[in-house]
Amino acid sequence: MKAIAEAPGKVIISGEHFVVHGATAIAAAIERKVRVEATRGDRLAIHSRLRDPKKLLPARKVVESLYKAHKAEPRVSISITSNLADGAGLGSSAATMIAIAAATSALEGWGLDQAALVKAGDSGERLVHGNPSGIDATTSAKGGVILFKRGEEPRRIELGSPVTMLVAYSGRRRNTGRLIRRVGVMKESYPSLFESLSDSASMVSNLCAEALAKGDSVTLGRLMTYSHAVLARAGASNPRLDQLVDLCLSSGCLGAKLTGAGGGGSVIAVPPSDKRKAASIPAKLKERGYDAFFTSIPTTGARAWTE
Ligand code: MEV
Repeated sequence: MKAIAEAPGKVIISGEHFVVHGATAIAAAIERKVRVEATRGDRLAIHSRLRDPKKLLPARKVVESLYKAHKAEPRVSISITSNLADGAGLGSSAATMIAIAAATSALEGWGLDQAALVKAGDSGERLVHGNPSGIDATTSAKGGVILFKRGEEPRRIELGSPVTMLVAYSGRRRNTGRLIRRVGVMKESYPSLFESLSDSASMVSNLCAEALAKGDSVTLGRLMTYSHAVLARAGASNPRLDQLVDLCLSSGCLGAKLTGAGGGGSVIAVPPSDKRKAASIPAKLKERGYDAFFTSIPTTGARAWTE
């Protein structure tokens, strides 16, 4: 028997970094995902083409602790494939852990629910970058578009109309742990300034939630561009990301911002409503050396099945 699981990556529409410190954020699952196949074996083996082999160590630890919790030996062979670039700020590490937990659960008949998948995802994330807020794992497990605040039940946002996002890769890998520490230093150095940026991030998230619920892409775009400026103030951007945001805006996008940890990784943008104009943007970005793709939201969360 083979168990298969797929878990989507995510984009953060507003509130990244500040969410680690208690602010409200919004994330959406995207169409690109991680796929895991699990079969019984004589020992734990993990095969993957991930660009960063260091990512496999947390994956191993997640599998070991899942089997330990079920008082079983991890005699399982796991194969990971993905169309989600890793190191691109699109939640590939959380999606990998979630897909692994979902696939082993389906193989062994543990019946792990969404909360257990999020827990497994978070434990892997903790090994990767220390202090995850839980937003990546929650979004990958549940899917959809989520209003998230640490310690509170995440709220699903029902969209007024489906949204297409443009995702553009800066071409630089980012290190989430380093960026979280950098923003943490800013918080310690200027606590009251950080607090007002954090309040502003929460306010922007709530306004984005309203815009998404109304299907108001113009307001959503404006708020996302504002959110980029706030993140830049907190130290999460760099000249390359600022340039990519500007390029998206000058190509006609309604708004653009870095997504995820920043410092590299990806920018997301709301494309213009004129479909022909929107379709021409990835080629324009490619001319300047940036790869981009469209994703529609909302999409489904993690799922697993056996064959
Ligand atoms: C990473 O996708 C988002 C951060 O806010 C970290 C986290 O929330 O765990 C930078």
